[in-house]
Amino acid sequence: MEKTFESVLVGKTTDLPEKMGKTMTIGTKEIAIFKLESGRIRAIENRCPHKGGVLAEGIVSGDYVFCPMHDWKISVCDGKVQAPDEGCVKTYPIEIINDEVFILINE
Ligand code: FES
Repeated sequence: MEKTFESVLVGKTTDLPEKMGKTMTIGTKEIAIFKLESGRIRAIENRCPHKGGVLAEGIVSGDYVFCPMHDWKISVCDGKVQAPDEGCVKTYPIEIINDEVFILINE
């Protein structure tokens, strides 16, 4: 069965601050959006799998965000928690059309 995505506008690429998280609530989901140093934009679930730290408030370095609560290192590309810690957050695909950023939600 084909997946259907809902496309939600985040804003213009230039509106997103570099290396800082932006929080967006879509329905019951809270999502952290990051513009990386490379200019790429990524979206992940906004809750750390450890104890629920708000990832949009974490420090961004390269392709990773460091949870503001206990410093777990989480990839904003695939959502994986880096060793020695374990876990994963959900990632959301991003689409950029004419400089506008959309998150694709599939549930
Ligand atoms: S809540 Fe994120 S590292 Fe503890």
